[in-house]
Amino acid sequence: MKITVIGCGYLGATHAACMASLGFEVLGVEIDPTRRTALERGVLPFFEPDLPELLVEQVESGRLRFTSDIAEAAAFGDVHFVCVGTPQRADGHGADLTFVDAAVTDLAEHLTRPALVVGKSTVPVGTAARLQEILTSTAPAGEQVELAWNPEFLREGFAVKDTLEPDRLVFGVLSEAAEATLRQVYAEALGNGCPLVVTDFPTAELVKVAANSFLATKISFINAMAELCDVTGANVVTLADAIGFDERIGRKFLNAGLGFGGGCLPKDIRAFTARADELGVKDALRFLHEIDRINMRRRKRVIKIARAELGGRLPGKKITILGAAFKPNSDDIRDSPALDVAHKLHELGVQVTVHDVEAIKPARLKHPELSYAETIEEACEGADLVMHLTEWLEYRAVDPVKLGEIVTGKKMIDGRNCLDVPAYRQAGWTIRSLGRP
Ligand code: UDX
Repeated sequence: MKITVIGCGYLGATHAACMASLGFEVLGVEIDPTRRTALERGVLPFFEPDLPELLVEQVESGRLRFTSDIAEAAAFGDVHFVCVGTPQRADGHGADLTFVDAAVTDLAEHLTRPALVVGKSTVPVGTAARLQEILTSTAPAGEQVELAWNPEFLREGFAVKDTLEPDRLVFGVLSEAAEATLRQVYAEALGNGCPLVVTDFPTAELVKVAANSFLATKISFINAMAELCDVTGANVVTLADAIGFDERIGRKFLNAGLGFGGGCLPKDIRAFTARADELGVKDALRFLHEIDRINMRRRKRVIKIARAELGGRLPGKKITILGAAFKPNSDDIRDSPALDVAHKLHELGVQVTVHDVEAIKPARLKHPELSYAETIEEACEGADLVMHLTEWLEYRAVDPVKLGEIVTGKKMIDGRNCLDVPAYRQAGWTIRSLGRP
């Protein structure tokens, strides 16, 4: 079985390398020539543990190649995975389907032989049915071309593991033949006992956005509790531990702090509400607006604490922001809460210096107005206040005594609730958290 992966961004590059590592012959389609040649050398335009090594290994094995030619891909593949992006539209909350539509239409025009086209991109429910019609009406092979929907749940930082050892597989299919083909593709994971859900298109499409909405809800729930903790003197970390022992609730995704960001959760909940509105069931997802609002409120809250810590005035103050990526083990700055706070503080007249373990380069490109430092020490030198906003392990390993010797004011805001508060206090710091006294 020969596989193509259309769109070799974050999801596609990972999927292509992983499919090749399973022994399939894989052709990745990437239209950006710089990215394509970089991928061939195992050079990624983003940070993802284990992926560069896997890419090099698979390219060298001869099983993985890249092209920009969709006609070549159509002639090559039995199964075509569509992995292009679906960003938030520039003019609203809905998903921008330009890339998915273009990928499927371009591919369809060249499909002269039987093939299974498999959508992996996150799309508004109803998209797969529309794409199936485009496929059969456009492809020269007509009815011999079929669509399936196979949502992807990989987390950045764990992309390879999540692809090779998924916690579940979902196949949205119209025929037993399509299911059989996908079972062949994922034979290894299924053989290892990975749960499989075989369903229709709309359910498969909904699984992805429902899962991300639930995760976003869990985070905003605990962040709402943090607001309550702040006005009552309670401790949100202890609260999360205590409710998390209930197996029905679980402790995961109950880390209160600066809230969620990234290329998925924020845009997915917004696109989902936009789609519900189109479908005439706006009320069903009204709560997701509130989830979004709670999340965005975290950023204001942390700035309010910063102002209070600095005696009520921000202009002219020197603040160090530890973290630019939307989460640790990633250099992704899309909708990053840390970088948003850094930018807002800069607009308020603060002298902001940002540090990150992996994301300085992309952060500098997006926010050239901010200052950046290569080391934690350099970043914190002379700071009136330090804000810990992305929980890299490196920040937890910092010695508060040594850090105290570099800064001007021993003031720390722990926006991720994971620094050692007693150790900081013992070293003479004032440390403030979100939802902890
Ligand atoms: C998410 C989903 O987890 C994944 O299944 C889906 O395929 C894509 O979207 P990802 O965007 O990589 O993955 O990040 P995730 O680990 O889910 O974290 C999302 C955001 O939530 C981050 O900003 C993180 O810092 C924040 N978060 C997470 C919290 O604020 N608290 C938590 O308890 C957990």
